[in-house]
Amino acid sequence: MKKIVSFSIAAAALAALALTSCAPQAPAGPKKLVIGASLPTQREAVWVKGRQAMEKAAEAAGVILKVQSADADAAQQATQVDSLLSQGIQALILAPADATTAAAMANKAAAQKVPVISYDRLILDTPNIALYVSFDNVKVGEMQGEWLTKAVPKGNYLIMSGDPGDNNAKLFKQGAMNVIEPLVKKGDIKIVGDQAVANWLPSNALTIVEQALTANKNKINAILAPNDGTAGGAIQALNAQKLAGKVAVTGQDAEVAGLQRILDGTQGMTVFKDNRKEAEASVAAAVALAQGQPVSAITFDGVSANQTVNNGNIDVPALLLNPEVITKANVMDVVNSGYVKASDLKMTK
Ligand code: BGC
Repeated sequence: MKKIVSFSIAAAALAALALTSCAPQAPAGPKKLVIGASLPTQREAVWVKGRQAMEKAAEAAGVILKVQSADADAAQQATQVDSLLSQGIQALILAPADATTAAAMANKAAAQKVPVISYDRLILDTPNIALYVSFDNVKVGEMQGEWLTKAVPKGNYLIMSGDPGDNNAKLFKQGAMNVIEPLVKKGDIKIVGDQAVANWLPSNALTIVEQALTANKNKINAILAPNDGTAGGAIQALNAQKLAGKVAVTGQDAEVAGLQRILDGTQGMTVFKDNRKEAEASVAAAVALAQGQPVSAITFDGVSANQTVNNGNIDVPALLLNPEVITKANVMDVVNSGYVKASDLKMTK
């Protein structure tokens, strides 16, 4: 037995040798562009979907994409970006875990002539960003504020915002307060608590809502939850007090769990940001910038970088996509777009 095996291995090796020596040399094709992407987390589904869409877009464009994701840890992200830069990337797509410390990463990339695209979240306090690709995030917050104030025009509000190191958290809150604040001034709405949810963690949102319910003897009528993850934590706290479905709660991301809660009536709305488009736009922009094209030449789906967003240092050219409000009435919009599968949702109620 042993003999037969070693014979067949030797024969196979010989055959392989014969094949290689006869095979014509493949002509060296043009070198593929290499793009790097650094994502802050894979915790929320939006980042997983973004990563998948980037990979698909890179494959279709015939470029190599190297993706890293940090576990909401800015130090880990810095190491990952260093590693990407050492691998000779020609453009960097960067969604910061922390908006301010990411400036150093953008500066390093620029020192190596690698153009940086700020993806979804804005990198603050650096001139070294070629383009910001995101959604209109103030509009996202306004959508939340509009839905909430329509659902509860008068009453006690608990305001939650996202992680303080994420510039989006500020923009979402700013948008929501644009709508809520005038009603506070009018005396119709009373804000009984206003807290940031560190790291966007649902468990932190749960604690905030539990404590607010206790402090206010359960007299809370509306909760501004900045995304579906934090809405999940809030609704868990409400559930424990048999208040789920009685208190209006917002969300964002059109996650399966959020959509299901909308169908079940415990969450009122979510905001659908089709981040497959955001990812595709970022890869297309990265390719264009790596090829030396100007930002002004970049358009995606009819949208160009025709706006700017100030990052504390410069007005960053921005390509901003449109978010969509989702309530029970139009959950099917998300399904029909292919973003989630109908089979993932129970449509019974
Ligand atoms: C994104 C949201 C996401 C949140 C937490 C924000 O920057 O825009 O879609 O829910 O981060 O990951």
